[in-house]
Amino acid sequence: MDKALLIGIVLPGVNDVDVNNHLNELKMLAKTASVKTLGMVTQRLQKVNPAFYIGKGKALQVIDQAQLIGANLIIFDDELSPAQIKNYHKIAKTISVIDRSALILDIFKMRAKTREAKTQVELALCQYLLPRLTGQWTHLERQRGGVGTRAGMGETQIEIDRRLVRDKIAKLKLDLIKIESERKTQSQKRDNEYRVALVGYTNAGKSTLFNSLTGNKVYVEDQLFATLDTTVRKLKLNKKHQVLLSDTVGFVRKLPHNLVASFKSTLKELLESDHILIVLDASSSIINEHLDTIMEVLSELGAAKISKSFILNKIDMVDNESTIKNLKSDYNEGLFISALHHLKLDDIRSHLIKKIEKDFKTFNVRITYDQGKILSQIQDQAEIIDTDYGDKYINLKVRGREESINKLLT
Ligand code: GTP
Repeated sequence: MDKALLIGIVLPGVNDVDVNNHLNELKMLAKTASVKTLGMVTQRLQKVNPAFYIGKGKALQVIDQAQLIGANLIIFDDELSPAQIKNYHKIAKTISVIDRSALILDIFKMRAKTREAKTQVELALCQYLLPRLTGQWTHLERQRGGVGTRAGMGETQIEIDRRLVRDKIAKLKLDLIKIESERKTQSQKRDNEYRVALVGYTNAGKSTLFNSLTGNKVYVEDQLFATLDTTVRKLKLNKKHQVLLSDTVGFVRKLPHNLVASFKSTLKELLESDHILIVLDASSSIINEHLDTIMEVLSELGAAKISKSFILNKIDMVDNESTIKNLKSDYNEGLFISALHHLKLDDIRSHLIKKIEKDFKTFNVRITYDQGKILSQIQDQAEIIDTDYGDKYINLKVRGREESINKLLT
């Protein structure tokens, strides 16, 4: 098992408590990647050093410290530039130095199960790796026999590897286009349904909520990124209304940009949704920061305009009155629930019904007698208030989403 020393940097204007929270999260990320954390260090810094992120003296000190406690890995919470990684490689010798992005990529690689997720992660990994080919990428990567390079290889070998990685990137992109076109055929079938996407910081309880609402069995674990693929299920809200609910990969602070870009197709379900439910862990002390991360990723994905509501989950774990009061004032329209204990789940159902009905209109539809299939689809998606059987046509007065009924008719 890899053993790590974690480094958090406190730059001017940054709060110590925040850095410690981030380091604790990094520890959880490390645990998820089967890396044992032996120590955590915070370093105060006036400004970032281009060569080592921290000053060279400090860098050597940190390496000594890692050696002393028996760590074979140093993980920076902040992103290191390719040049910094190269410089560490020169001075750290037996110890590998990686950053948060590399660790996240490694976890995604372990977690990817479907062909699509595997291809997406591999692409992000290759893109991350390309400028960093130094003869040693991540220690983790080498051990797991991925695209990582061997330690100590010469420049020629690096050139060859660069070409190989470039070729691989081109191939993976083509593979993804193919997989995406298959996915498109599947999603067209669901074009007319009202779609709701669950979005949240990793471990907020999205999958638990998805299961509690739909009675489905999506993998739930007290681990980060238990879910990488998108799962979609029908959720019946009442006799009249149903939605398609999707659960997808959780977000995390500093999610590598390449990874977000590669996951765009998995996250398409989210982009095509009519409404987003943002699931927050109410028991987290850094809930607002989680929300900032979520909003950043959503806008990076192009989902900023989709309507959203807040679900404050794990409310069973918040027993402090003043915390609850603060949350209620910060999220005054939020729904306070416990997905695990099935508390207040009906609030979500009625909230969604209200949302859907807001989009509902009463309008007339005319169909011919040979359009029996369309009639039953209309019945599925809208309320038929009145039916008038004419000579040639059936005239219906319906209440529903005009947009989706029109789609059925074209
Ligand atoms: P990712 O897959 O990382 O995106 O996580 P997720 O948001 O899907 O979280 P998941 O549903 O896997 O839940 C994470 C952990 O939180 C599990 O151990 C759940 O049992 C726990 N959990 C979820 N909801 C609640 C809740 O309402 N109360 C409590 N106490 N724990 C909960």
